[in-house]
Amino acid sequence: MSNIQSLRGMKDILNSESELFTYFIKHASQIAQNHGYSYIETPILEETALFKRSVGESSDIVNKEMYQFIDKGENDVCLRPEGTAGVVRSFIQNKLDRAGGTHRYYYYGSMFRYERPQKGRLRQFHQFGCESFGVDSIYEDANVIIMIKQILDFCGIKFKLQLNSLGCKECMPPYREKLVQHLNNIRTELCEDCNRRIETNPIRVLDCKNEKCKTLLVDAPKITHNLCENCDTNFEKLKTILTANGIEFEIDTNLVRGLDYYTQTAFEFVSDEIGAQSAIAGGGRYDRLVEFLGGRATPAVGFAIGIERIWELIKMKANQNEHYYFGALDESCMDKLFEVASNKRLSTQCSVEYTPRGFNKHFKQAEKINATHVAIMGEDELKNSTIYVKNLLSKEEKTISIKDL
Ligand code: HAM
Repeated sequence: MSNIQSLRGMKDILNSESELFTYFIKHASQIAQNHGYSYIETPILEETALFKRSVGESSDIVNKEMYQFIDKGENDVCLRPEGTAGVVRSFIQNKLDRAGGTHRYYYYGSMFRYERPQKGRLRQFHQFGCESFGVDSIYEDANVIIMIKQILDFCGIKFKLQLNSLGCKECMPPYREKLVQHLNNIRTELCEDCNRRIETNPIRVLDCKNEKCKTLLVDAPKITHNLCENCDTNFEKLKTILTANGIEFEIDTNLVRGLDYYTQTAFEFVSDEIGAQSAIAGGGRYDRLVEFLGGRATPAVGFAIGIERIWELIKMKANQNEHYYFGALDESCMDKLFEVASNKRLSTQCSVEYTPRGFNKHFKQAEKINATHVAIMGEDELKNSTIYVKNLLSKEEKTISIKDL
């Protein structure tokens, strides 16, 4: 009988990867808390209708990628493909839309999309996300972008920020009409997907990855040239705030996002270091979603970072979290070494090898567990109350007094 394996596109997270995961969550959570966000956890399983109504029936996520099934109680349910819809459902269900004021939540956890797995694209993946409710100021949009920058900066990740405005209920419908007129003129030359989208969600045509379509769409009307006064003022103000805060961006008028709930600000953070699946975070404003799902109209803005996409990129930095490996060269040193390591543990992660062994074997073991420092005690060190320490990152090595460790 063959061993049972995890499903395609689904991974275990253990050892150094789980360390990395908790490291990332800890620091991203701290940054979110510093910005006034509190933790929210919503169920992984929700009614399918929630995602149909929020993410949108015409989106690829709802159309092709949902893990949807009928449960034993005949309910049509699905594993969440993203986090925003569940948080909005909870916001309304807990009557926070009626309470007024500002409510900011962060979350992290598994999301499920039945996509074709490849590097950086899984069927079960993890997001860290933030959702802010009740603030319609454009400063809040700038602030969520600044938060992502702070999280990525902390992880030492370089990125490009792509920005667009998708207008509002005043300026989007006339723009959509203009776009459809243009698309109808070039319809026969556009791909099959684009033709389907002209009927279901014409804005998504702008997002087509087909090279021929991209060329044909160069002359399509741009949303940013068709914004109403309020949306235009907000978009200009956002650009000014970001520039004043040292955040570079590119305007991408074809950035429409794969989820239907956005209004005004839409953005994506991309990295050119991780291959084809380059989007590491995405988000924007969704002022109509709370009302659309049955709540009292509430402005909202948020984002989600794809944790697996930045996995490799944070690995380097995560390793810099101090982790001492302690080893003895001789049995006679074990008691002292054990005592020294226990004290060091008050401030730093430490691993102790209980079996005395040679220098090189200790180093091999330390590398295996991703330690940043190796601390070794032999008979000489024991006699002099010293310990040999090597920093594996800087390669610096010295023998120091135990009390200075
Ligand atoms: P999204 O752009 O669909 O937005 O996903 C956010 C991030 O999740 C992406 O930038 C990417 O890094 C990661 N991601 C998406 N699909 C996969 C996959 N199959 N495998 C690995 N990583 C993936 C949202 O989900 C919105 N809820 C973001 C948001 C929050 N907007 C407002 N608030």
